Amino acid sequence: MVKKIETALVHAGRKPTRDYGFVNPPVVRGSTVLHKSVAAKAEIGRYQFEPVEIYGLCGNSTHFALEAAIAEIEGGSHAQVTGSGLSAITVPLLAYLKSGDHLLVPDSVYGPTRSFCDRMLRRYGIATTYYDPMARPEDLRPLFQANTRILFTESPGSHTFEVQDIPALAALAHELGAKLFLDNTWGIHHFQPFTHGVDVSIQALTKYPGGHSDIILGAVVVNSEADWHWLRLGALELGNYASPDDCWLALRGLRTMHVRLKAQEAAGLRIAQWLEQRPEVARILHPAFPSCPGHEFFVRDFTGACGLFGIVFQPRYTAADVVRMIDGLKLFGIGASWGGYESLVLPTTGTIRRSAGTGMFEGEMARLQIGLENTDDLIEDLEQGLGILRAA
Ligand SMILES: Cc1ncc(COP(=O)(O)O)c(C=O)c1O
Repeated sequence: MVKKIETALVHAGRKPTRDYGFVNPPVVRGSTVLHKSVAAKAEIGRYQFEPVEIYGLCGNSTHFALEAAIAEIEGGSHAQVTGSGLSAITVPLLAYLKSGDHLLVPDSVYGPTRSFCDRMLRRYGIATTYYDPMARPEDLRPLFQANTRILFTESPGSHTFEVQDIPALAALAHELGAKLFLDNTWGIHHFQPFTHGVDVSIQALTKYPGGHSDIILGAVVVNSEADWHWLRLGALELGNYASPDDCWLALRGLRTMHVRLKAQEAAGLRIAQWLEQRPEVARILHPAFPSCPGHEFFVRDFTGACGLFGIVFQPRYTAADVVRMIDGLKLFGIGASWGGYESLVLPTTGTIRRSAGTGMFEGEMARLQIGLENTDDLIEDLEQGLGILRAA
């Protein structure tokens, strides 16, 4: 039976017959695994690509339960949990790349991914070229070099929300001998990476799977034995580890993720539509809006949205005006990250780094993460915030 996503989220990774009859897999903590004999220990060392307890660092049943669940939700064959969303980016990059290689990264990439490429990868002799996330395959083709190993994508892009044509980019990457990596954090549950040509899918589980702003966790998902060998060996060699307590919380979060995401999607759309009508707002950056670059790919490839989007204010408002407005909001917390149950806001203009000439908008920008509060209350709060902006 091919399970629909709601069913998969409820059942994935669970096995009460294995877990003392309990509904949820328990938290297992441990470093040393005891073996029956020296021979048994030697034998088990051969199972590093299997969900088998060898040594705590290689994972235990709590990690394996979450990995099975994430692989199923993403439609891949294997998943590796990592200590953070950022390490779900850096671990596979280090696993696949070597000195002398080159990778292509969208200008709209998550800031710490850019820092990792510009600092760590550069130090190891790996070069990065940034490209316009809206570049068509024929525009991107000339940027490939003989040593280009990875075409990195993030769709929609951080802060500016451009939606990329992943199937076309994957076809190009494969034709030219490169792997297609996707940071699929925004698209969790709504974008199936492997039916769109992705080789390596990245998830910051910190966001919607965690759902309660109380864990830091990531996962990398692949869909072939060859990719699993690269990824798993890289993760083991780098000493990657994730807290079993956080894995347990992510598993628990997954069970309700569908209803949270649907509520946050609907509230986010309603608030974005309300904001779009406001005279203080120049435009909304939301993949579901026809004005969003790549909206046609969103309509074609995604089954829905999450509750994270951007606002561009009218150019007459200064950065200080927007900060005053944000400081005046009562229900929106001022803080990084997203995907939790509570609403957040961040001014984004000063944090956006670009080098391929993209991402410039007419006014100051902010990012909203819409939580599970009553939507009318959130609109009332934004209304009084816009009043502060108007008084500027
Ligand atoms: C698109 C994207 N990828 C990865 C990450 C990194 O996740 P973490 O905070 O778990 O390191 C973030 C965090 O904001 C993100 O927005």
